[in-house]
Amino acid sequence: MAILVLGGAGYIGSHTVYALIQAGRDVVVADNLLTGFRAAVHPGARFYQADIRDRKAMDALFEKENIEGVIHFAASSQVGESMSDPLKYYDNNLCGTTVLLQSMVAHGVDKIVFSSTAATYGEPERVPILETDQTRPTNCYGETKLAMERMMYWTSRAHGLRYVALRYFNACGAHPSGVIGEAHNPETHLIPLILQVPNGQRDKISIFGDDYPTRDGTCVRDYIHVTDLAQAHILAFDYLLAGGENNVFNLGNGVGFTVREVIDAARAVTGHPIPAETCPRRTGDPAQLVASSEKARTVLGWTPQYADLNTILTSAWNWHKNHPKGYEDGTK
Ligand code: UFG
Repeated sequence: MAILVLGGAGYIGSHTVYALIQAGRDVVVADNLLTGFRAAVHPGARFYQADIRDRKAMDALFEKENIEGVIHFAASSQVGESMSDPLKYYDNNLCGTTVLLQSMVAHGVDKIVFSSTAATYGEPERVPILETDQTRPTNCYGETKLAMERMMYWTSRAHGLRYVALRYFNACGAHPSGVIGEAHNPETHLIPLILQVPNGQRDKISIFGDDYPTRDGTCVRDYIHVTDLAQAHILAFDYLLAGGENNVFNLGNGVGFTVREVIDAARAVTGHPIPAETCPRRTGDPAQLVASSEKARTVLGWTPQYADLNTILTSAWNWHKNHPKGYEDGTK
């Protein structure tokens, strides 16, 4: 039987597909290619260009393929855009997941691993953050992801479906092969933006605020390598296959780095001075987001392999310097 990866042409989805295929799994990918890239899909996966909001397309997929469960990445994921266009997020993330779950229930597909986010917590009460800490999203993106978690909970109660929600902290890095990596348009994430400087695509990096209550005044984040995230999805899927109950797991290294520390590490890895300038704070940025991932380690047996910041930046730089335009060659 096959695993259906929705959003398998996106950043974390494509890395998970590579990991699944490397693990010898049969993989079907569906992606509407609005933000994903066909070139990011492993050639060993069967690909369908389909939108999760399209019930007919979802039904056709479940009828054609023998699907044992779903890994669901298909969502809009830009915090800033979610604030200026919230209805896009309700439509793609919530309406999309509604249609997907309806189709899964109709076809008796009862296992789903789902990409959630640290943005479900909002401004944390404390760090490291536990899964049981309060969830009060401060942006519409986090709000829709939390609502997707709740949708799965109620669907589980009514229809017996089981789910695992994985709350990622700051996904980063690229596949060790250098074949796939991070590519967003527009790019808003710190590490790819920093690496645009040594790549000659920007003059300097902006530091959004240096007056936070942190060790050097800049925001602290928990950077987790995309390959480690990919492994967690396989472990979570196998946990459901083994009969595991509904669950929510944080995925991070449990170590926070400041924006300045990330820039310094990038200077060391690239050998470029990477000029930086301090700018005003970006609205909605919590001072610190650091995960407690003890639960994922204990219950899933997850052990991140790429925790070191230099290793993360080396893999990201290997991708960006060889693919300065990501997958773009004028087409998607
Ligand atoms: N930052 C800068 N300059 C930049 C870009 C970012 O200083 O040019 C700072 C941000 O202010 C933040 C840190 O770098 O303090 C990391 O910013 P990112 O945009 O890379 O990541 P975020 O922490 O904002 O967001 C990430 C994910 C979101 C998720 C969120 C959870 O990208 O999808 O974590 O809080 F919602």
